[in-house]
Amino acid sequence: MAGRLDGRSAVVTGGCSGIGLATVRRFAEEGARVVVADLDDERGSQVAEEVGGRYVHCDVTVKEEVDALYAATREAYGSVDVAFNNAGISPPEDDSILDTDLEAWRRVQEVNLTSVYLCCKAVLPHMIEQRRGSIINTASFVAVMGAATSQISYSASKGGVLSMSRELGVQFARDGVRVNALCPGPVNTPLLQELFAKDAERAQRRLVHVPMGRFAEPEEIANAALFLASDESSFITASTFLVDGGISGAYVTPL
Ligand SMILES: NC(=O)c1ccc[n+]([C@@H]2O[C@H](COP(=O)([O-])OP(=O)(O)OC[C@H]3O[C@@H](n4cnc5c(N)ncnc54)[C@H](O)[C@@H]3O)[C@@H](O)[C@H]2O)c1
Repeated sequence: MAGRLDGRSAVVTGGCSGIGLATVRRFAEEGARVVVADLDDERGSQVAEEVGGRYVHCDVTVKEEVDALYAATREAYGSVDVAFNNAGISPPEDDSILDTDLEAWRRVQEVNLTSVYLCCKAVLPHMIEQRRGSIINTASFVAVMGAATSQISYSASKGGVLSMSRELGVQFARDGVRVNALCPGPVNTPLLQELFAKDAERAQRRLVHVPMGRFAEPEEIANAALFLASDESSFITASTFLVDGGISGAYVTPL
């Protein structure tokens, strides 16, 4: 059976762990030639080898490295068809606005938001020239609703990713390039495990708001990324693509 991404090249930033890793595997299963971009060189090389793809060291906050990532993908595979701009951080120093200092604020903005600007700026010229491409930027459910337990810079960065993706989707729709914001609910990955390991009560507080009563598994988010990457989503652009177990639809959750 033909793969849903046969003949396509796909870049996944933050491809060594969590949602990115699950997506690298899912894209490869569906026939894509995958470029894994991350900071973790040892793991990145292993993952690339596992899926028969390539690893490129890339700090997504550094313009030259991001430009080189997409140029290398084009050179290796002849096109850049899918860009999953997914790398992100959620450090404990980012908390209530009352306790988060400027340095912590800026670091999260750089890794979560400026990186998406850099990735989109680098990949769009390739996709416009090809007159084809799907950009998927990882935002979060916190981009559309407030949380009592705040991570102020994280939430603000994801709001930025969402509105940037919407605007790019509108601007480049007639160039054949689709841009969507993938907004996961809480996902069982190292990022979330780190956040909740120190504070079980905080984890429970989140779970209470999920109608499904559980966190997502990374593979469930990877499947959504696959849909947005493939031609099955050919009429979907500039969307707020929520994959959140019903959180954003709930006022109260069942007991
Ligand atoms: N886990 C969740 O609950 C959740 C929910 C909503 C959105 N998200 C978003 O999903 C994305 C992936 O999250 P995850 O949970 O899979 O995280 P993760 O921590 O499991 O993986 C993140 C990956 O990004 C890489 N990375 C970090 N900084 C980087 C940089 N500067 N340059 C290149 N790579 C870098 C890390 O090495 C790691 O491999 C993030 O944008 C996150 O904000 C996660």
